[in-house]
Amino acid sequence: MSEPADRRYGPATLPRARGPLSAAVVEALRRPPHDLPADLGVDLDPADPFTDEDLQLTLFLCYELHYRGWLGVDESWEWQPTLLALRARCERIFEAALRRLVGAPPVPAAGVAAGLAELVAADNGPALAATLQRHADLTQFREFVAHRSVYHLREADPHSWALPRLGGPAKAALVEIQTDEYGNGRLDRMHAELFRRTLDRLGLDTGYGAHVDVAPAVTLATNNLMSLFGLHRRLRGALLGHLAAFEMTSSLPNRRYGNGLRRLGFDEVATRFYDEHVEADAVHEQIAAHDMCEGLVRAEPALAPDVLFGAAAGLAVDRLFAAHLLDSWAAGRSSLRAPAPPALPPRVSLVAMPAVAPPAPPALV
Ligand SMILES: [Fe+2]
Ligand SMILES: [Fe+2]
Repeated sequence: MSEPADRRYGPATLPRARGPLSAAVVEALRRPPHDLPADLGVDLDPADPFTDEDLQLTLFLCYELHYRGWLGVDESWEWQPTLLALRARCERIFEAALRRLVGAPPVPAAGVAAGLAELVAADNGPALAATLQRHADLTQFREFVAHRSVYHLREADPHSWALPRLGGPAKAALVEIQTDEYGNGRLDRMHAELFRRTLDRLGLDTGYGAHVDVAPAVTLATNNLMSLFGLHRRLRGALLGHLAAFEMTSSLPNRRYGNGLRRLGFDEVATRFYDEHVEADAVHEQIAAHDMCEGLVRAEPALAPDVLFGAAAGLAVDRLFAAHLLDSWAAGRSSLRAPAPPALPPRVSLVAMPAVAPPAPPALV
């Protein structure tokens, strides 16, 4: 449990508790692995699992043990049986809520790619991207970036859990997408690193997990959803459906995010993460729907309903996330939990923006 040399890459500091259950987990994680009380969490019955801070943080605390872990927390907690039992209790509540939220989208006769296209076409979510493009002020844009940093600083990791669970065409397609997400093995082109530069340009803390404390339950839910699908082999169809919906609804919003930052005076270093996704995800959406999801269903036809469930769940939770931001701003409130994100002075003048050359493309050998 030595201190990490570089906090950019994690592990993050344990977040503050948000209720009795997360308080018990945080307190336990500070000590060597031990059995938790058998009745911990048995009374859990949140009115709305998507906005329940205690439930979502507890899930996030458990899941992070499978990513970078937590600073100062014994790594053996990852497979501690009583903590896993508690996580399973929370997951049952979360998964049941997801299934109530989206039901079981029917698989059309034309196939799973057509079903994904129908779900995306029917996705009439709140206009978060348009607001960020046209109206959001710098404070609101920084809030949006802080929310998204919980995912983007580990971008693509949850979907990588599908790799050893797949073979054949679906695996090849997923590898093709993930290779781009990880910058084709070039650190400076990894999407997580491009996003780190956006955070830096906006004067926000670039450390892994730096904004978890201010991310509300609904933001954690967008992340917990991916971890739930990623960590359970039985949900591999839902994981691929989630990725497909993500890619199919990415290109246009990312163009808008980039334009919003340009409207606010930011340069191409700040917008590069978003600009990169405009073209990359126009390609990824084809690979994801046709090669990956149809490839999976050809090999395992019984997974077709799961693919559409995962896609619908991803779209629905993202709508809740967008509504939270827009409702908060409409009411004149911050969309983050107090305190405000750790703010540093912007790294660049908003008046006279220096021209910064983008990193050189990889050499062709
Ligand atoms: Fe990406
Ligand atoms: Fe992508």
